[in-house]
Amino acid sequence: MAFLLVSAYLLLTRSHSAPVENGALMETLKSQVLLLSNKSEHYSTQVRPPGTSRRIPQTIIIGVRKGGTRALLEMLDVHPNIVVAATEVHFFDWDENYVKGIEWYRSLMPFSYENQITIEKTPGYFTSPQAPERIHDMNSSIKLLLILRDPTERVISDYTQVYYNRLESHKPVQLFEDIVIKNGALNTKYKAIQRSLYDIHMERWLKHFHLDQIHIVDGNTLIKDPLPELQKVERFLNLPSRIMSSNFYFNQTKGFYCIRSDGRERCLHESKGRPHPIVNSTVLEQLYSYFREHNAKFYRMIKHSFDWH
Ligand SMILES: *[C@@H]1O[C@H](CO)[C@@H](O)[C@H](O)[C@H]1NC(C)=O
Ligand SMILES: *[C@@H]1O[C@H](CO)[C@@H](O)[C@H](O)[C@H]1NC(C)=O
Ligand SMILES: *[C@@H]1O[C@H](CO)[C@@H](O)[C@H](O)[C@H]1NC(C)=O
Ligand SMILES: *[C@@H]1O[C@H](CO)[C@@H](O)[C@H](O)[C@H]1NC(C)=O
Repeated sequence: MAFLLVSAYLLLTRSHSAPVENGALMETLKSQVLLLSNKSEHYSTQVRPPGTSRRIPQTIIIGVRKGGTRALLEMLDVHPNIVVAATEVHFFDWDENYVKGIEWYRSLMPFSYENQITIEKTPGYFTSPQAPERIHDMNSSIKLLLILRDPTERVISDYTQVYYNRLESHKPVQLFEDIVIKNGALNTKYKAIQRSLYDIHMERWLKHFHLDQIHIVDGNTLIKDPLPELQKVERFLNLPSRIMSSNFYFNQTKGFYCIRSDGRERCLHESKGRPHPIVNSTVLEQLYSYFREHNAKFYRMIKHSFDWH
């Protein structure tokens, strides 16, 4: 139980909670513990259920940050042949973890049966210079999932998360426009903009992996209509089709889909899907036009296009 609480707590802190009172935090913590119960119960206790073992992931969700990785992972977790790591492991992108070795990595994976696929998600892998080669060294035939959304929207979402984190820790915050525009020009050194240069990051992955090993999930579609995107993932992973429309219901208050499985209902943490600031339209246009060429290059690279701005 202690471990269960710890992992629930990690999940919470890593999902960057919105400001919550202590009481509210405990409530959220309890619901997260419940959320983790059935499927995760077996790996949070130290007892290994007969016939299971901890396996290194056969699939990794590599990113992108603010692309919808948590939603994707939680939705895939509905599938009986999928088990997921509870926290972001940061094995391939953080040197201090990578030096701990593959057995350390494996020890953080849930117990699984032989017919189950273990999935880990760490959004930072996509933009990490070392991650592609390191993952390739572990398993050159691994299947990778990448969830992307409109790069400008992603920048704003990235900004919004940092904004709330800074508010919570009583640090000064800046207007979006003041960060993105420096001396009248787009501040292309801004980390959030760099992370949205999908072509540049993808080029690195394609040095190590075949295009058909990387399945790209449309994050904009997943939010609006999850099932078709999840069925594509089932096919990519050669899994029987088990995720159904009845696994999702739209929550009007939240404005997002929540998950129904094993007779329980759960929604993503409240820090997910926060409203974005309204951005000055001139600045928006500058962002759209900056990304346009990068997007076109990215579409050619992956032989597929999206309707991004
Ligand atoms: C490598 O990944 C492939 C594709 O997911 C999987 O079938 C295979 O079992 C993995 N190998 C190891 C050693 O995990
Ligand atoms: C819908 O979302 C609201 C706000 O996040 C939440 O309080 C409520 O419990 C959710 N209802 C259901 C049925 O998921
Ligand atoms: C989940 O756990 C609860 C409580 O242990 C149990 O009553 C329920 O049957 C479980 N559901 C499944 C699908 O195993
Ligand atoms: C948007 O910003 C530009 C300068 O970058 C300014 O000239 C313009 O007035 C702003 N528009 C609005 C609607 O605030």
